[in-house]
Amino acid sequence: MPCESSAYVSDTAPGRGSLRPARSWLHSDAARLPLNGPWRFRLSPTASVAEEFAAEGFDDSDWDDIPVPSHWVLRDDGAHGRPIYTNVQFPFPIDPPHVPDENPTGDYRRHVGIPADWAGAGRVLLRFDGVESLFKVWVNGVEIGSAAGSRLTHEFDVTRAVRPGDNVVAVRVHQWSAASYLEDQDQWWLPGIFRDVTLIARPAAGIEDVWLRTGFEDGRASVDPEITADAAAFPVTLRIPELGVDTTWATAADVVPFDVGGAEPWSAERPRLYDATVSSAAESIALRVGFRTVEIRGDRFLVNGRRVVFHGVNRHEAHPERGRVFDEDHAREDLARMKRFNVNAIRTSHYPPHPRLLDLADELGFWVVLECDLETHGFDKVGWTGNPSDDPAWREACLDRIRRTVERDKNHPSVVIWSLGNEAGTGSNLAAMSAWVHARDTGRPVHYEGDHTGEYTDVYSRMYASVPEIERIAADDSPATLMNCTPAQSVRQRGKPFLLCEYAHAMGNGPGGLDQYEALVDRHPRLHGGFVWEWRDHGILTTTPDGTPYYGYGGDFGEVVHDANFVMDGLVLSDDVPTPGLHEYKAVVQPIRFAFEADEVVVTNLRHSADTGDLRFVWRVEHEGAVVARGDLDVPVVAAGGTRRVPLPPVPVARDAETWLTLDAVLAAPTSWAPAGHVVATAQSDRSAPRPTPAVRHRSGWRPGDGTLRLGFAEFAGGSLVGLAGRAVTGPRLELFRAPTDNDEGTSDDLEDSDATVAGVSHAELWRREGLDRLTARRLSVTCTADALRTVDRVSAANSAAWVMTESVWSVEGDELELRVEIEPSSGWTTVWPRIGIRFDLPDGAAPVDGVTWFGLGPLESYPDSARAARTGLFSSAVGDLGVDYARPQETGHRAGLRRLTLASADTEVLHVTALADRLGRRPGFTLARHTPQQIARAGHPHELPDSTTTYLIVDAAQHGLGSRSCGPDVRPGFALRPEARTIRLRWARA
Ligand code: GAL
Repeated sequence: MPCESSAYVSDTAPGRGSLRPARSWLHSDAARLPLNGPWRFRLSPTASVAEEFAAEGFDDSDWDDIPVPSHWVLRDDGAHGRPIYTNVQFPFPIDPPHVPDENPTGDYRRHVGIPADWAGAGRVLLRFDGVESLFKVWVNGVEIGSAAGSRLTHEFDVTRAVRPGDNVVAVRVHQWSAASYLEDQDQWWLPGIFRDVTLIARPAAGIEDVWLRTGFEDGRASVDPEITADAAAFPVTLRIPELGVDTTWATAADVVPFDVGGAEPWSAERPRLYDATVSSAAESIALRVGFRTVEIRGDRFLVNGRRVVFHGVNRHEAHPERGRVFDEDHAREDLARMKRFNVNAIRTSHYPPHPRLLDLADELGFWVVLECDLETHGFDKVGWTGNPSDDPAWREACLDRIRRTVERDKNHPSVVIWSLGNEAGTGSNLAAMSAWVHARDTGRPVHYEGDHTGEYTDVYSRMYASVPEIERIAADDSPATLMNCTPAQSVRQRGKPFLLCEYAHAMGNGPGGLDQYEALVDRHPRLHGGFVWEWRDHGILTTTPDGTPYYGYGGDFGEVVHDANFVMDGLVLSDDVPTPGLHEYKAVVQPIRFAFEADEVVVTNLRHSADTGDLRFVWRVEHEGAVVARGDLDVPVVAAGGTRRVPLPPVPVARDAETWLTLDAVLAAPTSWAPAGHVVATAQSDRSAPRPTPAVRHRSGWRPGDGTLRLGFAEFAGGSLVGLAGRAVTGPRLELFRAPTDNDEGTSDDLEDSDATVAGVSHAELWRREGLDRLTARRLSVTCTADALRTVDRVSAANSAAWVMTESVWSVEGDELELRVEIEPSSGWTTVWPRIGIRFDLPDGAAPVDGVTWFGLGPLESYPDSARAARTGLFSSAVGDLGVDYARPQETGHRAGLRRLTLASADTEVLHVTALADRLGRRPGFTLARHTPQQIARAGHPHELPDSTTTYLIVDAAQHGLGSRSCGPDVRPGFALRPEARTIRLRWARA
């Protein structure tokens, strides 16, 4: 039996003692004392240590200092436990509501001087904005109470315990508690007081709570106020100076709704806010008011009467050094980054963020789905037996969580949907939470994805549904029953607005196929877009024993159970670097679309309500990447939802180079999130005159030879290339392998729309079984003519009967050398192939190949199902900058649509390579890297890559798509690479 003092860790009650009812998190002028800063701290291994530390006179001189807010496991002294990452798994036995005796427990103490003038305060509150997971509070040795709900605000009434002058606050925090069963989100377990602690003086005639509900309908703005205060607080005055509002209510009964003249609406695009104050004689509260009406009409989700399309991301609070500790500057910059990448919505997965985040969302403009701190996913393992969502013993805990969520953030115009939580199964407690919200806030709908059949929620929400499935959801005449639904439930769900609360799992290199989701949203008004999983990687900055820094993931901290790098699935890397996936996202969801015709362009404005008055349209013409003309395009203002047909400028077309017209929509003036000139949307049109590809020259007179010879500037030994233009170069060697992406390693078995052959087995595993990563070659022949060399090789893997024949022909073509490689697979290959490529090795010698300039698609990597962000142009890069530092090394850096490239060494050009299109006009792509795919595949972290002495150039006739199978649909068949015969033709020239 645990000792009496710690038994409450198994208590399902959300709190005890003098906890106050939830209310808004308000900006009041009442006195307050921030208790952030150093506290005395002691960590114990169990919850049952005596509580004597709470006594006033306790001597804590041999304790440490800890900053509040922080997580004790992220202290870099290694003496305070370590972070644990799990996705679904509980890191303790499933024994609800109990937790292990091994329950790290942090005791905190600090002194606080309370000014003498607080003596007149009606009440003194002690507020905690976030403590993980259960905590108990004492003031001056008096036990105040306890509370759970890590990402929720709790206020205790400490009036009877405080006194003017010195006071001692003591807090005991347990890492594990009954509440942990409700907080099984896919993230790090990070105990501690991780948000602000504040001592608040409440004036005797103060305003307890304010709710300024607003509306905007048919051009009319309205306020429906709710004031929670004692009669003594009245009269209370509401002022919105900019709108001339100055209303005084003599009593609570006078507080009634009213219309406001001259107000502009709030939207995520034009986040118009008005400063307001609500004041009594004793206290003044500042709010920023936005006018908007949220409504569901049939299967449409509308704000201010117009359909909303969520171009959203799931946002966790994650920082590589601070964990979930909020940093306002970092959060603001992160939100500005979202705006720059055309993100217009945030789901606060899977708990309320720091309250200030919503102020920023109001101000910068986002549609927010605000989610309650609730997830019980680990019960899935036991068939949801004992799931708190359906057990009366947990009803109060669930209700307490949603009350605290809604009450704290109810004033924010950005919050347009309440979400009950995530992956908590289903049951009566969730239904009760929903009923409570419906009664409390009639102005916002309720979301919960786990209500698959739509019993108690207002929108139809899914995660990771495939494109064909969404088509069935969107189509009114589809006879298909929906997932987990009966026919009647399917009809019910189809009658609601649909959104994807999660899709496009952005783990590692990916996601692919974003544009296909967007195309559906454009076509079907019932579809309201969705939220990419997820915004950022959750890597924790740590070091190897020799001091090399890296971003740690599950398993890097000695966890007993963990889920490896599944926590690294963001559009932004841990160090804030946007991934190519984010660039792709920006291009796919751009709110302005262009359709080129012969002499005109059709400009479409897909925004919710903003016209294009804030944009400028600029064009340029490039000949093989060199700008030859540019100007502004005069586009009349396009209303939201409208289109305009605009004449194009005359385009000078080159005879001997490709001609590309690029049109950008840019910000005309700076905003709080981007400078003037920031590109919001872009499109290109190929205006090139047709130019034939040189035909393959037929050669005869081949004779056997040993293949040791020189052809132009190439040298061969035994039929194999050994040098080009005086540099050591070997190749081509057939390469069918790529270092598996997280999606290649994915095992999700939604294979309706996939070319995966074995459900539950990843493509990467099949590639390893077929030996694609360990091909060997046997030379069948070497033949020559006076100016050409031909080799034929049979390439195959150990214990495999399938093979590929490669025929390589080097020939002199004027000053250039041509290499043509015919790649011909045998029958009997069973899997998709990652790539069909040829590799050249360029050892460093005196000076490594360290740079490249290319004309083709760029500037970032592109793959068959992720190429919308790529444009045709002339680009340069250092070799080291071509790949992305994914937290787990994997395939990266492929640039498709190659026309020509120049390799450079220390800024000196080394070799030119021209890629000729094949007979179908297809162009290869290239990768230039310091490691082979096999080396990359062996590394778990970037620092595990071996030192390199070689640069590797891989030219791919084709690559397999990316998909999203690390959690969701596989590469769609149109982008999957099945074995096939391909030709690669390259022309080499000396620099
Ligand atoms: C979802 C879940 C998220 C995250 C994601 C995979 O099922 O809601 O929290 O785990 O999968 O990364």
